[in-house]
Amino acid sequence: MTSVPPPIAMLAELTHRCPLSCPYCSNPIALHGKDTELETDTWARAFDEAAALGVLQLHLSGGEPASRPDLVELTRAAQEAGLYTNLITSGIGLTPKRLDALEEAGLDHIQLSLQGTKAALADRIGGYTGGFDRKMSVAKEISIRGIPLTLNAVMHRQNLDDLDRTIDMAVELGARRLEVACVQFHGWATLNRPALLPTREQTIATKKTVAEAEARLRGTLAFDFVPPDYYSDFPKACMGGWGSTGLNISPDGKVLPCHAAETIEHLSFENIRDKSLYEIWYDSAAFNAYRGTDFLPETCQSCDRLNIDFGGCRCQALAIAGDASATDPVCRKSPDHPKVEALLSEVMANPDDSFTYRKLARTPQ
Ligand code: FES
Repeated sequence: MTSVPPPIAMLAELTHRCPLSCPYCSNPIALHGKDTELETDTWARAFDEAAALGVLQLHLSGGEPASRPDLVELTRAAQEAGLYTNLITSGIGLTPKRLDALEEAGLDHIQLSLQGTKAALADRIGGYTGGFDRKMSVAKEISIRGIPLTLNAVMHRQNLDDLDRTIDMAVELGARRLEVACVQFHGWATLNRPALLPTREQTIATKKTVAEAEARLRGTLAFDFVPPDYYSDFPKACMGGWGSTGLNISPDGKVLPCHAAETIEHLSFENIRDKSLYEIWYDSAAFNAYRGTDFLPETCQSCDRLNIDFGGCRCQALAIAGDASATDPVCRKSPDHPKVEALLSEVMANPDDSFTYRKLARTPQ
């Protein structure tokens, strides 16, 4: 298939193990245990194949990637493959010695998660007492070494009122970029929607705060803003379109078009243990299932945003409309949009601040 461009980025979910238990996690509910994880050599081969395929950026993620004892080795393998390496981490498990080793192995960038700006709130959200203080120490160590840092603040109803302080903290910690990532409802976050869904007032205030801060901090701090999409008029161009710019590999080696793809149960996903990344990217049925826009319904075909948002998110279309090929119901033109309105009304009528914390259980065999 010559018209398919090569991927630009790959997310390697090295492990689902994580010391934190964030209720907003987008990992699948059925997390993979340590015994299913790919071994070092297979990951290294995947990195080589990704680079040969055209991937430029590798995101080392999880779970908590620092839970892998071979993280330095994996970083070196990625660097030797010629990939730009970004470590997405809670910071827990990154000792000064390990940071030195990662830097020496060629790590290019760190994306540090932030659950809240004060220990009590951050530790409640992360489900890990002492996590905030440890994270702050790691942030200082990153800054001392001059490793480029993005602060990744996952925002939701419980911490959005803290956004001004979050922005100040990003500057104080020497981050070059702040990701204001309003929670997207996949995996564990869906279970916790009643506690996480922001109010309409918070959404309006957030957009204003981000716009003002972007103007004020131009040249000091760059922003990536993912707004709460249930309140948007149009859907996000999830993954830049299915199978168009990026791919994920799960801890057990499944190659996925996005992090929530396994919720689309009629698709089956090939494993890097069995096939090359090249074959999977170009020829697999799962990657070709929703490529392009031909599969989308008339609502999208007649819309001038067809090639802007590509009908939105396939996983969200399935989760809310019950059909992965439907227009993302977030779109106000979607016939399923009333289902989003109903979800919002239901949660706002019965807000519940309690969490179901993410936890590892064995994957059903
Ligand atoms: Fe799967 Fe959006 S998360 S397409």
